Amino acid sequence: MQIKSSALLKNFENFLQKNLPSAESFHPTYQQALTEMFQAGGKRFRPMILLEVVDSYEPLLVPAAFYVGAGVEMLHTYSLIHDDLPTFDDANLRRGHPTLHVTYDEVTATLIGDALNSHSFYMIANAPLDSDCKIALIKELSLNGGAAGMVLGQAIDCFFENKKLNLEELSFLHIHKTAKLIAASLKMGAIIVDLDKYKQDLFYDIGLKIGLLFQIQDDIIDATMSSQDAGKPTANDTAKNSFTNLLGVKGAIKEKEKMITQIREQLSLFDEKIKIKLQNMIDDYFE
Ligand code: IPE
Ligand code: IPE
Ligand code: MG
Ligand code: MG
Ligand code: MG
Repeated sequence: MQIKSSALLKNFENFLQKNLPSAESFHPTYQQALTEMFQAGGKRFRPMILLEVVDSYEPLLVPAAFYVGAGVEMLHTYSLIHDDLPTFDDANLRRGHPTLHVTYDEVTATLIGDALNSHSFYMIANAPLDSDCKIALIKELSLNGGAAGMVLGQAIDCFFENKKLNLEELSFLHIHKTAKLIAASLKMGAIIVDLDKYKQDLFYDIGLKIGLLFQIQDDIIDATMSSQDAGKPTANDTAKNSFTNLLGVKGAIKEKEKMITQIREQLSLFDEKIKIKLQNMIDDYFE
């Protein structure tokens, strides 16, 4: 369940660890809490798909794209920290590490999430890229990660606990909670290398499908894996509108296979280099 290790992933990881937010003060634990969830691990799936696009078209822009990938990872990590709070999913483990509200307290976890949300846009603003490009990137991340994107998905996820949604509503929930940020990551790669609008939309569109596949897989992980292997509590979605609760594990696996076929077909529209990279990532992570 990992992204295959590569030079790109290693270089990005180095960049990320060197560019974590820093705010030294007399607060005894704030700085440690700010960086802890990045040091704990994580697959870096979203920044990696962004970086693979950049590496396929304009490898010279990869170092500048690290800032953007780090921004996306920071926004994602904030969403996980809040997702684990007692008022959301009440999870005590994340990335194989105790969650921040367990190690510290709920105030700390909430505020660290807030700080990472802001810092994700600070990272992008500081990228050595053209200003117009950075505005387009910030628009994309705020749109898909914010009010009409991930946040709406989380609102529906929590509001409809123990209230059964139909399949269409379930898709809406997962597209917002998970797929939009993944789609935005691919599109942001396309924006950095200045692909035309048609190609940007192609990346966004396949990103929604990859994102839906990602959440189906995540729901299957909750239903079938040990907490130790997943690095987070499992069997934790009993009140949720998850794919496995609505379709059963077998039904969810079928849905996953259907998505993989659709993504494979759609990948034929893509330029050779990125087509192969995305195909390999999907094979590694989802098969
Ligand atoms: C978990 O995301 C939350 C979902 C949106 C499904 P990841 O599976 O990408 O978690 P990390 O970043 O690897 O820890
Ligand atoms: C969370 O979905 C998606 C986010 C936007 C954070 P989950 O609640 O299923 O994620 P996990 O299973 O805790 O990682
Ligand atoms: Mg959740
Ligand atoms: Mg959760
Ligand atoms: Mg989950």
